[in-house]
Amino acid sequence: MRTVAVIGAGQMGSGITQTVAQFGMKVLLSDVDIALAEKAKANIDKAFARLVSREKLTPDEATAALARITPVADYAPMVEADLIIEAATEKEEIKHRIFAAAGKVLREDAIMASNTSSIPITRMAVSSPDPARFIGLHFFNPVPVMGLIEVIPGLATSKDTVARTRAFAEGLGKQVVLAEDEPGFVVNRILLPMINEAVFVLGQGTASIADIDKGCRLGLNHPMGPLELADFVGLDTCLDIVRVLYNTTGDSKYRPAPLLMKYVEAGWLGRKTGRGFYDYTGDAPVPTR
Ligand code: 3HC
Repeated sequence: MRTVAVIGAGQMGSGITQTVAQFGMKVLLSDVDIALAEKAKANIDKAFARLVSREKLTPDEATAALARITPVADYAPMVEADLIIEAATEKEEIKHRIFAAAGKVLREDAIMASNTSSIPITRMAVSSPDPARFIGLHFFNPVPVMGLIEVIPGLATSKDTVARTRAFAEGLGKQVVLAEDEPGFVVNRILLPMINEAVFVLGQGTASIADIDKGCRLGLNHPMGPLELADFVGLDTCLDIVRVLYNTTGDSKYRPAPLLMKYVEAGWLGRKTGRGFYDYTGDAPVPTR
């Protein structure tokens, strides 16, 4: 792959863009407004500066990688892309609209992928021009640091698309897990019930936020406790994934924790809004309960 298009310049889209550019490919980055893609590029510039100061990247490599990123105002330039990666919000109707619109410029030899965290690939593929060239490509946050990418073929995805997508993922220095198109794939199917259960534990008053996280950090050797991880991922994204698990399986074991729904209704979405289970407005995060 020489040119990759990324649709969505949020946390995941920015991380994907940074990584792909670092690995020598050109990236076309879009969002609903080009200003958002430009802002993401400015933040990637800061991330490169940090890597240079830690001597993980030379100044020349950082300059070259940044120059490979082009914010674009619409999908037309994506005709150049060998791979289009959708990393927009986890709302299925929005994704369907993106696949239909970007599909108009998708070349006949190019692949369209979704970074969805849980929406079925087979169902989304029907909005793309060719479901044989549609696939799930699930990155983990922070993308430049995490070593895994899940590759998820839909029912109609061709073997050639799987092989080329896998080669692309491995070319980014990541390990690949191939997952069937089942709700939550592999990692989120396991992670989100844990996060949801942690919120039940909190809601039932079993332990404080700090102790729930401390318990999992020290008792399980996880780098972050489940509630700090939920804040990191975004509580709205966590709830969206739990709802997909619940609605697609109908299994009551996936019912969302009422407290998680309340936090989302309050707009307390985690780090990105300055408050979730922790308050991020001061120098260090402070538990809110
Ligand atoms: N670009 C490049 N490098 C970065 C970076 C970025 N944007 N952000 C962090 N890093 C690097 C730092 O340079 C540092 O490297 P070094 O140790 O070699 O110097 C390293 O990452 C660690 O960073 P920090 O020292 O700043 O912070 P921590 O040691 O506290 O680690 C963390 C931060 C990597 C986020 C760690 O806490 C962690 O692994 N947490 C768990 C993350 C996780 O589980 N992610 C998956 C979430 S689920 C998901 O994404 C799926 C979705 O569908 C929901």
